[in-house]
Amino acid sequence: MFDRPWPSVIMIAAAAAAAISARALGPQPGDARPADAASVPQPVQRVDFDRDIRPILVDNCVKCHTERKHRGGLRLDDREQILLGGDSGPAVVVGDPDTSLLIELVSGKDPDRVMPDKGDPLTDQQIALLRNWIAQGLAWGEGPVTPKGQAPARVYALELRKVELPATDDPGNPIDRLIARSVDLSTRPTVDDRAFARRVHLDLIGLLPSPQELREFLADIGPDRHGRLVDRLLGDRRRYAEHWLTFWNDCLRNDYQGTGYIDGGREQITQWLFTALYNNMPYDRFVSDLVNPPTKDSAGFSKGIVWRGVVNASQVPPMQAAQNVSQVFLGLNLKCASCHDSFINEWKLSDAYSLAAAFAHDPLEVSRCDRPLGTMAKPGFLYPQLGTIDPGADRPERLRRLAALLTARENGRFTRTIVNRLWAQLFGRGIIEPVDEMDNPPWSSDLLDFLAADFIEHGYDIRHTLELIATSRAYRLVAAPGGESFTSDAPFAGPVVRRMTAEQFVDAVRTLAGVWPEKADATITVPGTTGAYPGPVRAALQAADPLMLALGRPNRDQVVTSRPSAATTLQAIELTNGSSLNHLLQQAGDRWAAGEPSPESVVDELFVMGVSRRPSPAERAAALELVGSPVTSAGVQDLLWSLAMLPEFQLIQ
Ligand code: HEC
Ligand code: HEC
Repeated sequence: MFDRPWPSVIMIAAAAAAAISARALGPQPGDARPADAASVPQPVQRVDFDRDIRPILVDNCVKCHTERKHRGGLRLDDREQILLGGDSGPAVVVGDPDTSLLIELVSGKDPDRVMPDKGDPLTDQQIALLRNWIAQGLAWGEGPVTPKGQAPARVYALELRKVELPATDDPGNPIDRLIARSVDLSTRPTVDDRAFARRVHLDLIGLLPSPQELREFLADIGPDRHGRLVDRLLGDRRRYAEHWLTFWNDCLRNDYQGTGYIDGGREQITQWLFTALYNNMPYDRFVSDLVNPPTKDSAGFSKGIVWRGVVNASQVPPMQAAQNVSQVFLGLNLKCASCHDSFINEWKLSDAYSLAAAFAHDPLEVSRCDRPLGTMAKPGFLYPQLGTIDPGADRPERLRRLAALLTARENGRFTRTIVNRLWAQLFGRGIIEPVDEMDNPPWSSDLLDFLAADFIEHGYDIRHTLELIATSRAYRLVAAPGGESFTSDAPFAGPVVRRMTAEQFVDAVRTLAGVWPEKADATITVPGTTGAYPGPVRAALQAADPLMLALGRPNRDQVVTSRPSAATTLQAIELTNGSSLNHLLQQAGDRWAAGEPSPESVVDELFVMGVSRRPSPAERAAALELVGSPVTSAGVQDLLWSLAMLPEFQLIQ
């Protein structure tokens, strides 16, 4: 089909699309920025620590005044430490800026002793803020002040903060009320209903809206229409479960074929996982079943992969379990610490071995960089303040205890991690980034802790949190192009333009084609039914093919909690020359042409199915020329391919 002459307009669009990357597209980033400390100089203003003071300390002071580097014997990263003071005594007298050493030094009264010791002096506005801060009682925010680019490992308070919602006349979605505290998004536009329908269908059930679904939604003009659609999609248990299976398969490295499955070195959890998603199993129980499996149905995750041959000590199954449990459920990297004390965070070899020992069937000897040390690991949990694991207990008891500690209400790290993942799935970036480094500061700790507490209050209900997010105004904002990677402190500006996942893309093309696989590769049944899985069989239930691999589906030997969004050359090649897509398009062409439809109806229908709108006159003319009259199979293939290559098709925006 690729050696025929093409109408140039579609050719160009398609060629550009094949190579394009999500970040090049969409509207430009908005001008909304969080409140700028320097622009609020009024002397009597009520100081907000996180908004006004923390940035001053981060930018000017803590480089030289933390535990690592306490110049003058002083730490400024923690309220107690400021009160404790340095070599000359307390740095601050609460309530009295005039006698506070800190103010004396920053205001440059003594030219031989000015803080900061190097760099620009503070501005009058900054000094005024510091004075007010001291005068108003030296209020503090969440966690210590950390120097830029330095992860505050393990210092984050575990328990969730109680977040008071800002008072307002219009209750609205709490997410929007909390975001308004740090960013003003009120002037940023929201998407129209067509774009919303497309986005929310893809995000919640992974499929494009059908023409009928789209029509019905557009006919609904009630003020609650967005909420009704979100409800309907989340209530579509089967399509919801099929979509989220992809995310969880990646996280739990579950697949239908591949390393280990043949020789019993690895076990699937597919049916258990699918049922859990279908029935919206409460997340605390979900994790408990994975860590401390009540039956063998959910045992595969913590069992891990028993690699053949000799393996490094850091890859024995109990250590895999420790690494994967901490990464997926706590957003915490123990990988480095499983060979030596970590250089990138504060986790130690002994921490990794303690967690691993909880999973081990036999006593586990500690190895450093694969060299046995002659000592035995003592089972334990990463946060001893939550409780300990009795080293003398047998394995079932250790796992029971571990599951309880992990999912304890007091373990805010556990709930923050999952709500942050859900947020990142719908917005394209987390409240903390990267999502596996939950020691990084959030761009809004109020929002994060509110979502986590709300999640607990609603019985660890994932669908509830998704509903809350998807019904916020923030979620309806026009999407902005993403950066190569986000940092937590980049200001929030609404959703980020994303590429469809491999599964979403394949399902979308199949929807247009009307051609689906005969049978699922996953051996599962829909809960409550018996017999073969009913059609349509979606990509999530199939083993990976070259097209899906090229589009970023991981091989699931390793945990993957977020897929890269950037386009690759491999994708472009697979999309232009790959046999998986070509074969599918051929079947589609034959199927559409066989009905002898009118060329106009084919063109209009494929556009509405593919990009949720009718073609423009120019597009219609070009497309009609492509499909031919009467409609030919080759013509439909060309139109389908052109549509599938459009950024408008491939991107969730
Ligand atoms: C480049 C390093 C550096 C930076 C940045 C810096 N300081 Fe210092 N600071 C020092 C050194 C060195 C001393 C000890 C020498 C001295 O007291 O003059 C000190 C001492 C102090 C002391 C006195 C401690 C004591 O008990 O004697 C205070 C208060 C202080 N700094 C506050 C600040 C504040 C507030 C900032 C940010 C506005 C800041 N410093 C930024 C290096 C730094
Ligand atoms: C499979 C085992 C293993 C894992 C996992 C591992 N390392 Fe290492 N690492 C080693 C070995 C072996 C050395 C050499 C140690 C030595 O010379 O004593 C080393 C040395 C290092 C050094 C140099 C230390 C020095 O004193 O020069 C750094 C830095 C380092 N690793 C960082 C990391 C980071 C970051 C990670 C996680 C991303 C990591 N390592 C994961 C095995 C590992």
